[in-house]
Amino acid sequence: MVTIALAKGRLAEKAIELLTKSGIDCSGVEVDSRKLIFYDPTGEVRFLMVKPSDVPTYVDYGVADIGIVGKDTLMEANRPLYEMLDLGYSKCRLVIAGFPTTKNGARLHNKRVATKYENIARNYYSAKGESIEIIKLNGSVELGPLVGLSDVILDIVESGSTLRANGLTILEEICDISARLVVNRVSLKTKDKEIKRIIEGIERVLEVEK
Ligand code: PRP
Repeated sequence: MVTIALAKGRLAEKAIELLTKSGIDCSGVEVDSRKLIFYDPTGEVRFLMVKPSDVPTYVDYGVADIGIVGKDTLMEANRPLYEMLDLGYSKCRLVIAGFPTTKNGARLHNKRVATKYENIARNYYSAKGESIEIIKLNGSVELGPLVGLSDVILDIVESGSTLRANGLTILEEICDISARLVVNRVSLKTKDKEIKRIIEGIERVLEVEK
């Protein structure tokens, strides 16, 4: 049996669509249910519905062989997983954003950065040699600069509408983000055939949809 950890929410629906097209029967998976474990009819594939930020944890500990989650979550978790596929959906950008004037008027030292992504922020600014103060928030990060809690935010931007609605703008682009398929390092050896079959099925779908 292969266990797949799916990030609950928007990512899960896309992942199920992709897995279904690749030939796995996901008809029993209920994305909006309170139930957390589902099986395909053959019992060969088990699905765990987990919080996106927990997907790398489940895969790293080997309780899930495969995980499907955003690159941002993987970067933040920084766990030793095999990233096998860029699934090409849930595309967004990881950026630094703030008021348009921040560019010129920002304080240079100990800039306050509000973010859900503490590790990414630490790594990004340390690579630039800038000292910052990280303010960890769990959502609605855009509020940070609006109420004077932070100078800027580090967050993902998809359509840009949240930034626009709050009078904020992109100041720096860090990288592009999309959904990725990751595999546990031991599983890749012990369940080699089953995992390869799943990956090849998905690759065929991605090739057709290119
Ligand atoms: C994410 C992100 C931004 C928004 C970006 O938040 O943190 O706030 O989406 O999307 P947009 O560019 O299309 O507006 P999410 O909706 O996950 O909620 P959260 O703020 O509670 O994390």
